[in-house]
Amino acid sequence: MQHERVLVLDFGGQYNQLIARRVRDLKVYCDLKPCDMTIEKIREYAPIGIIFTGGPNSVYDADSPHIDRAIFSLGIPVLGICYGCQLIAYTLGGKVEHAKASEYGKRTFSFGEASPLSEGIPETSVCWMSHTDHVTAVPEGFRVLASTESCPVAVFGSEERKIYGVQFHPEVVHSEYGNALLKNFLYRVCGASGDWTMKNYVAEQVAGIRERVGNKKVLCAMSGGVDSAVAATLVHRAVGDNLTCVFVDHGLHRKNEPEEVMSVFRDGLGMNLIKADAQELFLEKLAKVSEPEQKRKVIGAEFINVFEKEAKKIGAVDFLVQGTIYPDVIESGKGKSAVIKSHHNVGGLPSVVDFKEIIEPLRDLFKDEVRRLGTELGLPDSVVWRQPCPGPALAIRIMGEVTREKLETLREADFIFREEIAKAGLDKEIWQYFAVMTDCRTVGVQGDFRTYENVIALRAVTSVDAMTADWAHIPFAVLETVSNRITNEVPHANRIVYDITSKPPATIEWE
Ligand code: XMP
Repeated sequence: MQHERVLVLDFGGQYNQLIARRVRDLKVYCDLKPCDMTIEKIREYAPIGIIFTGGPNSVYDADSPHIDRAIFSLGIPVLGICYGCQLIAYTLGGKVEHAKASEYGKRTFSFGEASPLSEGIPETSVCWMSHTDHVTAVPEGFRVLASTESCPVAVFGSEERKIYGVQFHPEVVHSEYGNALLKNFLYRVCGASGDWTMKNYVAEQVAGIRERVGNKKVLCAMSGGVDSAVAATLVHRAVGDNLTCVFVDHGLHRKNEPEEVMSVFRDGLGMNLIKADAQELFLEKLAKVSEPEQKRKVIGAEFINVFEKEAKKIGAVDFLVQGTIYPDVIESGKGKSAVIKSHHNVGGLPSVVDFKEIIEPLRDLFKDEVRRLGTELGLPDSVVWRQPCPGPALAIRIMGEVTREKLETLREADFIFREEIAKAGLDKEIWQYFAVMTDCRTVGVQGDFRTYENVIALRAVTSVDAMTADWAHIPFAVLETVSNRITNEVPHANRIVYDITSKPPATIEWE
């Protein structure tokens, strides 16, 4: 069964993924595709509606992306946002001009004329503007539907042709009725029925994977992270014991993590889950390694070695499961930027495993959808809402050489921090929070004795995508409890500091 879908054409604006997420939140599946998609491909894709995103260009720039006007004759409804709105006006013979001054921020706009797009939206409300050019005359057969004080055409459209343009950004939360406007476009203009739900997705995927796999063998590397956990659970529901999962216990996990993975997936769900005990091996390989990138390389290589050994024991498999998610798919098509940290992911596995095909059941999903899917599949909050943890885990949270003693101290300190954050009800607000073992020792006094022990740093950040981050303003009372508890309960830690640096200039992890 193919669900209804909307095509979001990407003109390079900063909110493009957000538009796609909003559409899906409104229960309509959509894909974000490059704006140069051909008319044939669009026809083949058969969307119920098309959305043009914003973008940084002016329609008059020599190299700005344009659109084949044939797109407007397909009989498919179109909504243009910001640059997309200007592009519709420009392509269909309206007029676009540079505004006297750029318009950024909240503006009040009024719907002067009723249309399917404005149903249920008050005549006057607040929207979010961010543009320099704007439409000054609409194409023939179109009507101006709304304006602001400085923007003569904030919304325009043609009910008959089902083509609309909005100058502001309905996808951002500052646009009060932005969601209502998008919903009107989807349901009143495109005639959506809203068939994109996680329940349907599970049913579709389970049936599809079952048919594809039949009675063949499937292998999956479980990292303990959300994506691989949800991918494995979905495939397990489809093929049961034909799936074997391997969890590499490298001894660098946070407290209780390996136990939790085994208890949820092997004991709880009855998965065929093998734990490869490799703590000693990783410690040996990491001895005397203190440079962060070197640690990542050693861990990445060893992870593959251990996984390969386990995979060989299982023998030939037909399919390998990977937890690739939609933002990875979109991002992988984009240009290269400087390598700040070489992330160790399971992406390098295919070359060492003898398999025929890859199953990527989360390829179409955004992170929040992966979480909803996990919940739909019955996974506990501790798995579904697990904060992101780097592949090399505690190894890059210990400055300098990784030793068993340092791991033990850090694990306990980190556990206390996590426990107190959860107790304070801050765990879903903060993107990542963890303890760091610095390679600095300071003098302290504990019970009349002089101590010379480690400084533990606490790091907690808020973020939406880990590209930028702010240090979290945790209440002093919580920090105080954490500091007291760590210095009292954890041996070899006599001083606690809180990291108050944003990213940039720092990164989230210390290494
Ligand atoms: P940074 O420290 O670069 O981190 O601000 C951004 C996000 O990436 C995670 N991170 C890693 N993830 N392998 C991973 O799988 C790594 O080597 C690695 N280093 C950083 C980090 O936890 C944050 O979420």
